[in-house]
Amino acid sequence: MGRSQIVLVLVWVMGICASTLWCSTVDYDHRALLIDGKRRVLISGSIHYPRSTPEMWPDLIQKSKDGGLDVIETYVFWNQHEPVRGQYNFEGKNDLVRFIKAVAAAGLYAHLRIGPYACAEWNYGGFPLWLHFLPGIKFRTDNEPFKAEMKRFTAKIVDMMKQEKLYASQGGPIILSQIENEYGNIDPPYGAAGKSYIKWAASMATSLDTGVPWVMCQQADAPDPIINTCNGFYCDQFTPNSNKKPKMWTENWTGWFLSFGGATPHRPVEDIAFAVARFFQRGGTFQNYYMYHGGTNFDRTSGGPFIATSYDYDAPIDEYGIIRQPKWGHLKDLHKAIKLCEEALIATDPEISSPGFKLEVAVYKTGDKCAAFLANDNDKSDATIKFNGNSYQVPAWSVSILPDCKNVVLNTAKVNSASMISSFKTESSIADTSLEESTSGWSWISEPIGISKADSFNKIGLVEQINTTADRSDYLWYSLSVDLQDDGGSQAVLHVQSLGHALHAFINGKLAGSSRGLDSNKRSINVDIPITLVAGKNTIDLLSLTVGLQNYGSFFDIWGAGITGPVILKGLKNGNTVDLSSQKWTYQVGLKGEDLGLSSGSSGEWNSQSTLPTNQPFIWYKTNFAAPTGSNPVAIDFTGMGKGEAWVNGQSIGRFWPTSAAPNGVCSDSCNYRGPYTSNKCQTNCGNPSQTLYHVPRSWLKPDGNILVLFEETGGDPTKISFATKQVASLCAHISDSHLPPVELWNSDTESGKKAGPVLSLECPHKNQVISSIKFASYGTPLGTCGEYYHGHCSSNKAMSIVQKACIGSRSCSVGVSTDTFGDPCKGVPKSLAVEATCT
Ligand code: GAL
Repeated sequence: MGRSQIVLVLVWVMGICASTLWCSTVDYDHRALLIDGKRRVLISGSIHYPRSTPEMWPDLIQKSKDGGLDVIETYVFWNQHEPVRGQYNFEGKNDLVRFIKAVAAAGLYAHLRIGPYACAEWNYGGFPLWLHFLPGIKFRTDNEPFKAEMKRFTAKIVDMMKQEKLYASQGGPIILSQIENEYGNIDPPYGAAGKSYIKWAASMATSLDTGVPWVMCQQADAPDPIINTCNGFYCDQFTPNSNKKPKMWTENWTGWFLSFGGATPHRPVEDIAFAVARFFQRGGTFQNYYMYHGGTNFDRTSGGPFIATSYDYDAPIDEYGIIRQPKWGHLKDLHKAIKLCEEALIATDPEISSPGFKLEVAVYKTGDKCAAFLANDNDKSDATIKFNGNSYQVPAWSVSILPDCKNVVLNTAKVNSASMISSFKTESSIADTSLEESTSGWSWISEPIGISKADSFNKIGLVEQINTTADRSDYLWYSLSVDLQDDGGSQAVLHVQSLGHALHAFINGKLAGSSRGLDSNKRSINVDIPITLVAGKNTIDLLSLTVGLQNYGSFFDIWGAGITGPVILKGLKNGNTVDLSSQKWTYQVGLKGEDLGLSSGSSGEWNSQSTLPTNQPFIWYKTNFAAPTGSNPVAIDFTGMGKGEAWVNGQSIGRFWPTSAAPNGVCSDSCNYRGPYTSNKCQTNCGNPSQTLYHVPRSWLKPDGNILVLFEETGGDPTKISFATKQVASLCAHISDSHLPPVELWNSDTESGKKAGPVLSLECPHKNQVISSIKFASYGTPLGTCGEYYHGHCSSNKAMSIVQKACIGSRSCSVGVSTDTFGDPCKGVPKSLAVEATCT
C-alpha cells in the first residue's frame, strides 16, 4: 500500500472523515492554530461573497492567494439566505457553497463567520426583518424566540457545510467558525441576560460539532473552548482570556467604509504593515484583513443608515477586483517576510526587551531557529537599534524583520512594491437609440406623488417606519389633508420630527423641502420647512425614507425610523399652530412602480413620445445600451442625477446618490502614516459627491440590448449619465539606494546577502499585457509622486534607455538600483530611481 492508501484506510477505520480527500484536524494551543498537529502562522483576508459575483470569485481568490493569503474569511448573511422565514436563497451571489468551494479550489482555507449577526455595514446587521416580528422576541440576548431562530439558522448553515464536506475535519477548507460578532463591545446594557446569552451561544455553537474551533471576536468573557479574538486597527496589545488560547486578530481594518455624505477613507500601507508586524512581533499567529476585497453593496443591502453603495474599503483589491498598489504588493512582501520567520514564531514565545524609548526588540529563539523583530514606535524620530552586536537603522513608526536574527528582510516603512494609478475612462455614448422611440434614447414613467396604491391604509397618529414597511421598500408615504378656511394663501412653516433617515415634504403635490439625518449616530431629522398654503383643502404628503437599516449598537434593531412626530403647522395667518401628529393619516408602503415591477424594464407603460422630463422628482427612466467593449470593469457615472436606485437587466446595482457630498474640512492634502491611525485620519474627496461611480459587474451585461432602469427621487437628467471603464493608467516605482533588496532575494548568508542590492520591479496587472512605454525614468535625485515625477538636480542620462531596454515588450521587468547599472551622476549623494510606465 502507498502512503496515501494507508492514510485513507486509517481515516476510514477511525470514522473521522467520510470524504475520500484529505481530512485535517484543526485544534489550537497557546501559540497557534494547529492543523494536523502543526502550529501555523496564518494570513487571512475578508471577501464577502454577496459583495461581488460568482464570476468574480475565482479571480478575487486567486489574487488573494498571489498576495500571500492562506485563509479567506466571510460572514454568512442571514437576510440574504432567508428573506422569508423558511424560504431559502442560496443562488447566484448568495451561493455560499460555491464560494467556499472556490476557496478550496484555490488551495486556501476558509473562516466562516456564521454570526448570524454580522454588523458589516450590512442592512440590519444581517438579520432578516421577519425576525423582528416574531412574538416576544428580543435580539441578541437570553430570549427563547431569538435563541431558537439563531440556533436553527446556525445549525442549517453548519449542516449545509457538513453535507458538502466543507469542514477541514471532512477534507474541506473551513478551519474556523465564528459565533456572534463583537457582542462584548455593546453588551453592558443587556446586563445579566447578555452574559447568559453569550454562554448559551458558546455551548450552542460547540454542540454543532463542526470539528473545527469557534471564535468570538471582541468578547473578553468568551467561554472555553471558544477563542476570544481581537478586532481593530492595532491588536498587538491584545491577550486572549486564557493561556491555552492563541492570539488571533480577526479584523485588521485595511481602510474604512464610505458613507453617503462622507469623505473617502484611506489607510496607508506603511501603517497597516507596521500594525501587522507589531502583532506578529508580540506573539500573534493569525491575522485577518478586513477587508481584503470590499466590493459593492448591491440591491438594498447596505446598512447604516447612509452606508454608500461602494464598499471599496481602500482594501488591497479594489471594489472592481483590480489589485491596489502598492498596498497589495507591500503586504505580499510582508507576508513573505513573516513566513520566513514561521518556524521560529511557532516554536516559542517571544522574548521582549526595550532598548530605548518606544523601541522594542522581540526575539523568537529555540535551538538553531531565531527570528527577530525590531520596532520603533516613535511617530517622529528614526532610531538606531543595537542588537546582537549589530546596529540597525529603524525609521519612525516601523518594524524591521530579521528571519535569522541577523539580516533584515523587510522594513514595514520601506515600500519596494510598485504603485499603480488606475482611472476611469468615459465611454462614448453607448445608449442604443435605435431600440427606443425617443431621440434622447430614454423613456419614462412618472411615479405619483402621495397615495396611489390600493393597499394604502388609514391610521390615527404617526407610525414608526420599519414596523410598518418591514423594509419591503425604502419608502413610506404619510399623507393627510387639512382644511384651512381662515389660513389659506398664507406662508407658514411645516415642522417635522423624524427618527430618519431622509424626508421629502410635498404640499399640494409640489416638493416644498427635503431633509436627511447626518450619519448613523445622528440620523434623526428636526426640520422647519417654509410652505405656502391655499384657502380650503391642502394636501400634505410626507415621504419618509430609510437609507439602509442600522447595523451596529446595543438594541440597534429597535432604534426605529420614520416620522414619529410631532408634525406641526406653525405661523398660520391668525397666529395659530396646528399639531397634525394625532390626526388621521393615510399610509402607503413603497412606490407604485415597485409594485408594477418597473425595475425589470419589461413591464409598465413607458413614455417615449414627448419631451423627456428632467430635473423633476419621482420619475422612472429606462434606456437600452450596448456594453462597453473589452474586459475592463464597468461603472456608471451618475453625475447629473439626484438620488434613487438603479437596475441593469433587472439586477439592482444599488442606491445612487451623487448629490450627497462629503463635507469640507475633514480631509488632508497629505497623509502621514506615522502615528496611530483613525478612520478619519487620511480622508480625501472633501466637498465632492461621496460616490458618483457605481459598479456594473461584467457578467450582468450582454454585448448589446442591455436595459438600464433608474428611479429618480429628487430630480436629475439621465441624458448626462455615462459609462466608464476602469483601467490601469500607469505603473510607478521609486526605489532608493537605501531600500532593501526584494524579499525573494533574501538570504541568511551575509556574504551573498550583501551582493543583492535594491531592485525596481514593475509588472502589468493583466496576464495579456506588456509594458508599452516608459513615460519617465530618472536615476539620481528625482522628485514628485506617481504621475508627476520630475528630474532633480542630478540625473543619469542613461536612465531612460536602460529602463526602456529592460522593460518594453515584457509583462514585468526588474532594474538594479545602483551605480553599477547607471553610472554615478553625482558622487556622494544618496540616489534613487523613479520610473513611470504604461501597459497595453
Ligand atoms: C466591526 C464589525 C465589522 C464591521 C467593522 C467596520 O466592528 O465587526 O462587521 O462593521 O466594524 O467596518
